[in-house]
Amino acid sequence: MSTSLVYRSSAGYELLMRTLYRRHYATRLRVVADQVRPGASVLELCPGPGALYQRHLRARAGAYTGADVNPAFLRRLQARGADVLAVDLSNAPELPAADVVIMQASLYHFLPDASAIVDRMLAAARERVIIAEPIRNLASSELPLLRVLGKRATDPGTGGEGHAHRFTAVTLDRLMEGYAGLTVSAFTIPGGREKVFVLDPRLS
Ligand SMILES: C[S@@+](CC[C@H](N)C(=O)[O-])C[C@H]1O[C@@H](n2cnc3c(N)ncnc32)[C@H](O)[C@@H]1O
Repeated sequence: MSTSLVYRSSAGYELLMRTLYRRHYATRLRVVADQVRPGASVLELCPGPGALYQRHLRARAGAYTGADVNPAFLRRLQARGADVLAVDLSNAPELPAADVVIMQASLYHFLPDASAIVDRMLAAARERVIIAEPIRNLASSELPLLRVLGKRATDPGTGGEGHAHRFTAVTLDRLMEGYAGLTVSAFTIPGGREKVFVLDPRLS
């Protein structure tokens, strides 16, 4: 089991994300941060090297923990000043409680049963669950070469199959329809690459 090339280097990963999102890169982080109440405690699942923390949550959150399986990303996040939790979230038991629990661009790693991690996020969150997920990406490209690259590029090294599947607008909406009663807002980011869902666990 080996971590993919893209997930081996924090700098390489961030470069790829900037290339993919181009002028919308900063916006994808800001729209998520805007949903966090200033002073709230935050648990971010799958933060990668910590761009959301560095650009926004370090200043905005009252407390912040990033939980990821990738040691290189966790080292980078820790160097940026965050508390970190090294964990394979597909096996982890209960998540630590926080006011806000966030996951950006990572729900596809938990396919085919992504509702299990959403349910655990809801159980851990006191005020908000924020899920931002790509609905257009390399792995669902019409072009076979890009599709193969997209699938191979983001194996986190956990040995699962989830990284080989991605959401589309239709499949993500289908999953999130199950949380319609808890959803306080849902919107697509500028550029249309990601869709954001904000859930309030207190509405259950
Ligand atoms: C596409 S990156 C997203 C990083 C960041 N949230 C962003 O939007 O740029 C996916 C992240 O999920 C992490 N990840 C994947 N599977 C995981 C698992 N089973 N447990 C914990 N982290 C996982 C990877 O290590 C990586 O940091």
